[in-house]
Amino acid sequence: MTRLVVISNRVSVPEPGKPQAGGLAVAITGALEECGGMWFGWDGKISQTPSNHPATVQHGNITYATLPLPQEDYEDYYLGFSNEVVWPVFHFNLGAMDFRLSYARAYQRVNEHFASVLSTQLEGGELIWVHDYHLIPLGKALRHQGVQDPIGFFLHIPFPCYDLLRALPGYRGLLDDLLHYDLLGFQTENDLHAFRQAVIETFGAVIVDDTIECNGQQVRTGVYPVGVDVEELLAEAERSNLNEQARQLKVDLGDRDLILGADRLDYSKGLVQRFNAFEALLRDFTHRRQRTVFIQIASPSRCAIPEYDELRRQLEEMAGHINGTYAELDWMPVHYFNQTYPREVLIGLFRSARVGLVTPLRDGMNLVCKEFVAAQSPDDPGVLVLSELAGAANELSGALLVNPYDESTIVSAIEQALNMPLDERRERYQQMISVLRRNSLLEWRRRFLKHLRQQQQQAAFGN
Ligand code: G6P
Repeated sequence: MTRLVVISNRVSVPEPGKPQAGGLAVAITGALEECGGMWFGWDGKISQTPSNHPATVQHGNITYATLPLPQEDYEDYYLGFSNEVVWPVFHFNLGAMDFRLSYARAYQRVNEHFASVLSTQLEGGELIWVHDYHLIPLGKALRHQGVQDPIGFFLHIPFPCYDLLRALPGYRGLLDDLLHYDLLGFQTENDLHAFRQAVIETFGAVIVDDTIECNGQQVRTGVYPVGVDVEELLAEAERSNLNEQARQLKVDLGDRDLILGADRLDYSKGLVQRFNAFEALLRDFTHRRQRTVFIQIASPSRCAIPEYDELRRQLEEMAGHINGTYAELDWMPVHYFNQTYPREVLIGLFRSARVGLVTPLRDGMNLVCKEFVAAQSPDDPGVLVLSELAGAANELSGALLVNPYDESTIVSAIEQALNMPLDERRERYQQMISVLRRNSLLEWRRRFLKHLRQQQQQAAFGN
């Protein structure tokens, strides 16, 4: 089988004693194990000088090859262009964009550096799979290094509509970079549509079936919704019944209903609106007081970016305010944790929750909502309240879909979820779990790699 090379900004190198990697990393590792290959990217560390030689670690038939980032690149490529320019624009948040020329230069420089180091590690005859918005220029940079093998790119985050994209200085360059891949994958039809519109408007591209022809390039495109491994999550959730922490949580909850949110601490997750909605629930539906507990886990993320730090402060204040207003000696309404928890603890919490509250203002897919559904007991499932602006909303019609900016609809959906009869909960769960089984994580990577192999075969036959 053709060797696979995966490139992503972060690389999940297995380390003894380190918590088990998330589902996506497991899927990529699985693909690498199947074909043998390499996972290349940033090691998460900062160095004094740029490094031209990746550190390599071998695990079975997978080589993990990683580079540190010099301080300047960490600030300008990772925090700067990737997370203060591309991330906010692609998530509908122009107000958070902080464009600087030095960021754009660093983005290009790091991608070119990655390409030049990576090309020394390639054997030829491989499939190359690039992931996410940090690495948009990588494919073209690899071509400049003389790499001939098929290169695919998967965008994990949403693709913005043309008018939003145009606010990003240099957007034409990003579109042109994307056109240099052989296969481009998006999470939803909506994202693919937005990309097509952008290249039609910008370059007069021509669409022929699933191929875009433009500036002498031909790129195949497709929609590959990232999924979860339902059986693994279900098994983990069932094991969590035996877990001491989960048991203690049930004892502490008693007959109170648990509403659960678990996100990276990011402004795209709609946490402020969510906290406001919970406060409105306690204010307007007084019978929910004493009977409801809201646990919000917000794992720290990109803390060096001012917006993230400000959000952390704001949420701490809001949690304090709600508890200060409504708590009683024997009941604390909000439990807010600015920490990262092991996967098995999260799954145990999902299983115990009556309501999963997943209300991002914008999200490429959102795997938390899929994990929440997969972790439910089929006999007595909880209800998912889901933002219609998350990619997952296209698949999970069994959720109660809400506009994440409209606090009153979030409140009504929570109230509806808490009152929902068992039959309806089961029906909604069945719709969602069958979609999740069909669009599984395995299926995501299988389809993408199948299409990338087809591109390789076509190239071999000169067509
Ligand atoms: C999102 C992105 C990923 C990124 C992750 C964590 O899910 O799509 O590419 O790795 O956030 O963000 P971080 O900045 O910590 O890598």
